[in-house]
Amino acid sequence: MADTGDYIVIKANENGVNVIGLTRGTDTRFHHSEKLDKNEMMIAQFTEHTSAIKIRGKATIQTAHGEMTSDE
Ligand code: TRP
Repeated sequence: MADTGDYIVIKANENGVNVIGLTRGTDTRFHHSEKLDKNEMMIAQFTEHTSAIKIRGKATIQTAHGEMTSDE
């Protein structure tokens, strides 16, 4: 399976936001953790290796499903 083409945009609204990639397949585990400081952005894709993305901390997230903010 190739990249799905679905990008998500994550903008950190505080220091130390974590963007965590979880593996695709029968075994769902963390495979990558990226730390963003305030106003840093990450543009990421769902891929052959990544089926889910967990975001910890205050961030604005844009996906094909809309924009959302993880706040309080
Ligand atoms: N090597 C990973 C992959 O191709 C990199 C990656 C893609 C990733 N999307 C991500 C890491 C989202 C964290 C979050 O799947």
